Formats: sequence, C-alpha cells, structure tokens
Amino acid sequence: MAAAALERMIAGLGAAWPRGVAVAICAPDPEARGLYPVEEAAVARAVAGRRSEFAGGRRAARRALAALGHPPVAIPMAEDRSPVWPEGFVGSVSHCAAACIAVVARTEGFAALGVDIEPYDPLPEDLLPEIGSEAELAGVGPDRRLAGRQLFSAKEAAYKAQYPLSRTLFGFDGLRYDAGARALRFARPVPPFARGQAIPVSQWTGDGLCLSLSALTAA
Ligand SMILES: CC(C)(COP(=O)(O)OP(=O)(O)OC[C@H]1O[C@@H](n2cnc3c(N)ncnc32)[C@H](O)[C@@H]1OP(=O)(O)O)[C@@H](O)C(=O)NCCC(=O)NCCS
Repeated sequence: MAAAALERMIAGLGAAWPRGVAVAICAPDPEARGLYPVEEAAVARAVAGRRSEFAGGRRAARRALAALGHPPVAIPMAEDRSPVWPEGFVGSVSHCAAACIAVVARTEGFAALGVDIEPYDPLPEDLLPEIGSEAELAGVGPDRRLAGRQLFSAKEAAYKAQYPLSRTLFGFDGLRYDAGARALRFARPVPPFARGQAIPVSQWTGDGLCLSLSALTAA
C-alpha cells in the first residue's frame, strides 16, 4: 500500500529530511469525511476520485499542522487552487491514487514549501519533450523515461514552492535542471526570482514511489 510505503520511506530518511518541516501521510478517503464547509464547497461538484484525494490531503494537512501545535482548522482552496494555510505557516499538498501527503512549516524557518508524490513509473515517451530537454533528462539519469518521471516530480515540487512567492503560472520550460548544481534554475525572470536563480529540490525514490520536496528557507 502506497501510504505505508511512503511512511517507511520518510521514516528512513532521518537527518536528510529538513528539520522543522512536519509531514503527514493519509490514504485518500472515498467518503470525504471531516471536510470543513468551505472545503466541502470547493469539491462539491468534483468527481469521486478528486473528492477522495482532496479529503485525504486535507486530513494530512491538519495532521501536519497538529505536529507543529496548531489546532484543527479549515484549509480553504484559493481561486488559483492553491491551499490557504493558517497565518504563520507555509505548506504544500500532493496526492497520487493511493497516498496523500502534506508538508507544513512555520514561517520563521521557511518561506515556502512544495511537495510532489508520483508513482515511480517511466513517464510516457510522448510527454518527455514537454517536461524537459534531452540534456536535462540525461542529467537526471540514464533511463530517459524514469528520468522524465523524476524531472516531472521535481519541477512540480519546485513550482508549488515558488508559487506563493511569485503568484506566477508557467510551464515546464520555466525551470531547467542543472545537473552540476543538482538544482532547478529559473529559465527566465519570475519576480521575485531572477533568471538562473536556483530552487532546491530533494528527491527520493523507492518502493515504487518518487517523492520530491522543495523547501525554501526564510531569508
Ligand atoms: C498545481 C499543480 C502543480 C498540481 O500538481 P498535480 O501533479 O496535478 O497534483 P498534485 O496532487 O501533486 O498536487 C495537487 C495539489 O497542488 C496544490 N496546488 C494547486 N495549485 C497550486 C499552486 N498554484 N501553488 C501551489 N500548490 C498548488 C493543491 O494543494 C493541490 O491539492 P488540493 O487541490 O487537494 O489541495 C499542477 O496541476 C499545475 O497546475 N501545474 C502548473 C504547470 C506546471 O506544473 N508547471 C511546471 C513548472 S516547471
């Protein structure tokens, strides 16, 4: 089961996981229990799978907040679909069919977080050109399609981390993988980020999962 595998993976990371970043994992909830009215309204017309993953993600988010001492609270969905965290906290949510993950931290330590969970399957060949260049894929690893999955996941995590600071939507060509620095860099200016500025992303694979975390520390 992916949720248990993900728990094991993170437990095994030890000091590689950033201090101050709380994490919680929940299974999707087909009954979508425990949503606050504002959250329920956000997915009232959504298909069953979306409701199920949204509910699992919100449950994980409340658990992660609780680990940092925050009482249960609604986490509304903004018009741009990003989660609205309580004052003093930053966070991020991701889900795949079998697991939902949330990461949360206090703003004293972190400016923004981005998380992505994917099945560690080869990405379909026809998606590769959209996700990255041949040079980027080669920099990630020798198996192009697995590299594509890893690059996709890393870019999604970095995109989620930068979004609360830039409020800018861009495509996969907006960030380029720099294999030497093992970082993603902005391909063009996205204020407040400069062209070439690096977004750190840590990535772990195993048990059929690919987990990416982008943690931007507070200045
Ligand atoms: C937002 C996006 C990154 C979500 O990724 P996904 O793989 O479809 O789905 P995930 O399960 O990993 O993440 C979904 C969660 O992302 C979060 N999210 C949505 N929009 C967001 C945004 N603008 N900023 C930060 N987080 C966002 C939400 O918490 C959402 O879950 P929820 O609706 O249950 O709360 C993706 O749909 C998207 O719009 N991408 C934009 C284009 C892009 O990725 N460019 C790459 C740049 S290099």
